[in-house]
Amino acid sequence: MKSSVKISVITAFPELVKGFVSSSVLGRGIASGKLEVSVVDIRDYTSGAYRQIDDYSFGGGGMVLMPGSLESALESVACREGRCVAYPTPQGIPLHQELVEDLYRVSMTKRLAIVCGHYEGVDERFVERNVDVEFSIGDFVLTGGELPAIALVDAISRLVKGVVGRERAVEEDSFFSGMLDHPHYTRPANFKGSAVPEALLGGSHAAIDSFRKEEAARRTISRRPDIIARADIMPYLKKGAYVVLLHHPVLDRNGQKSTTAITGMDLHDISRACRTYGVKKYLIVTPLAPQREMVKKIAAHWIAGYGAGFNPDRKEAMELIKTCASLDGALKWIEEREKASPFTVATTAKPWSGGLNWTGVKRRLLEVSNPAVFIFGTGSGLHEEVLSRSSVVMRPISGGNRDYNHLSVRSAVGIVLDRFFGFR
Ligand code: ADE
Repeated sequence: MKSSVKISVITAFPELVKGFVSSSVLGRGIASGKLEVSVVDIRDYTSGAYRQIDDYSFGGGGMVLMPGSLESALESVACREGRCVAYPTPQGIPLHQELVEDLYRVSMTKRLAIVCGHYEGVDERFVERNVDVEFSIGDFVLTGGELPAIALVDAISRLVKGVVGRERAVEEDSFFSGMLDHPHYTRPANFKGSAVPEALLGGSHAAIDSFRKEEAARRTISRRPDIIARADIMPYLKKGAYVVLLHHPVLDRNGQKSTTAITGMDLHDISRACRTYGVKKYLIVTPLAPQREMVKKIAAHWIAGYGAGFNPDRKEAMELIKTCASLDGALKWIEEREKASPFTVATTAKPWSGGLNWTGVKRRLLEVSNPAVFIFGTGSGLHEEVLSRSSVVMRPISGGNRDYNHLSVRSAVGIVLDRFFGFR
């Protein structure tokens, strides 16, 4: 059976909603059968001659929608198991793209019923008995829930394939990787002395892409720095990201400079994390030639040996591994490859004066155009000679137990990559 998005809007002002539903954009989705939107008039579910739907608030105040007719209207669209009920109210959680996507998915399997309140709202007992999610479209008060309901229907419907003309437009949009959209221009190329940016006129896709990403990053930093924490910034890094795992110079348990041995799990688990989050290369640094040889042998087993056929996913991860004799060598290799000096982000489990919060690091990476290189230390962490020469030092990842901070380097890499490049 073809799955479609099923939405019902329950309202005391059906004409308001119907006008929008029959508009051309939604019309395309409805005509294709991928979108079904019904509008239910609460008054059709009243019993008395006056078709009364509201009454005075107990304890004083304005009019409140009565629970009975609302519940009957709701039951007319779907049974309890077959529905998800959303209620727009200024007291709800802020509506954002992730919630829209969740409700889009829900509306493919169940019917999404949006119940519009009016006046002072709806009787709380109706909410308690029926509502799954209360959402707000902003910190202001409207006269009713119809506009928020329409906003939600619109945001969901544009996720339905075929509703928005150009599919890619949806993916390129604001909030698709959690960032704001870039500016748009059309003809004339010069409007009253104001010209369209050069980069958009030359026909070079790379130049256009780079201009747009730069503008999107600039706008997000200046207008909505709060959303950067959740965003996947990989598409906005001009030169991508690298992970370096350092075995020298690192600290031993006594705080002395030392060299650690390669750990097999670090090869497998970190390469898989790098592949998952789109890291360009995973550089393993050890001055010990036999250790580098061992890494190469293990990687070769998975890239070209028996392991390649046995587990092709592992092959893709292992292909990201590169061994280097020193940190300088690793950074030089990245610099030659990217034709730009690396922006190094050193990680540490210990406090470091001048260390930047991870959200601050994320913001810095959006401002620079150099390759982002995350350096992780094995043993008891990076030696201070690495920390002091890095572009930035990122403050420790820490849990609630402030007296214990001993994550494995594999856990640290996973957490950092997800904070910077996780898709939500
Ligand atoms: N109903 C009235 N005002 C509202 C708002 N800001 N968001 C959602 N529903 C509402």
